[in-house]
Amino acid sequence: MDLKHSINKNNIPQHVAIIMDGNGRWAKQHGEDRIFGHHEGVNSVREIVEACGEVGVKYLTLYAFSTENWNRPKDEVDALMELLVSTISLEAINLHKKGVRLQVIGDVESLPASCQKELQESMDLTANNTTVTLILALSYSSKWEIADAVKKIARKIEEGTHKSSDITSKLIEENLNTKNYPDPELMIRTSGEHRISNFLLWQLAYAEFYFTDVLWPDFRKNEFFKAIISYQNRERRFGKTSEQISSN
Ligand code: FPP
Repeated sequence: MDLKHSINKNNIPQHVAIIMDGNGRWAKQHGEDRIFGHHEGVNSVREIVEACGEVGVKYLTLYAFSTENWNRPKDEVDALMELLVSTISLEAINLHKKGVRLQVIGDVESLPASCQKELQESMDLTANNTTVTLILALSYSSKWEIADAVKKIARKIEEGTHKSSDITSKLIEENLNTKNYPDPELMIRTSGEHRISNFLLWQLAYAEFYFTDVLWPDFRKNEFFKAIISYQNRERRFGKTSEQISSN
């Protein structure tokens, strides 16, 4: 059954963040090596970006490579980097045609030069698109991002443009990689793991979490729509009582 029509168009999360997990296990189940799973995962990426456009999700952040992923076997890291470069260069035109704006968060300078170049070209090409903003978290970890923000603020204090009493949540947010995006209302993690794995720790403070056993390469449009419907059935209280929420 196509679940798209069961979605309430008046309650779409603006920003969805996804931990795409389970490529390796999916490949093993299919008797293939891990990188085959990552290749198949790209097809899910394509479908989910499309699904966002169809239902009106404006921002999609995908955890594509964490700071900790550098510790994987060299062969897998190299293959993943190659896959990123080739996917971005192949998909950029398609993304552009669909009105998708590509952005990146993370320690981009630690990526291979070819990857940085592909990313920059694709970001430039799609810079003015407004249908969906696709944010790739690459060489990203939340603790790295928060430490980086603290460093930037400390520098401003050293230079005398700010005082320690100026430090507020807003100032911290303005110094995070995500300063130009709203916080995600929904975070999805596939493959049955119930962890946040150093992903958007600050930004997910009030997000709804959706966990599914489905492995990332099998996570296609209908699975995404299921997650949106689950989100729509939650009561988001932001610390208030249920009665306060229903009287508003
Ligand atoms: C986690 O599965 C997945 C990754 C570390 C990489 C995700 C990358 C892609 C889906 C492809 C590239 C994406 C873009 C946006 C171009 P895992 O390897 O940890 O799986 P396992 O837990 O089953 O071992």
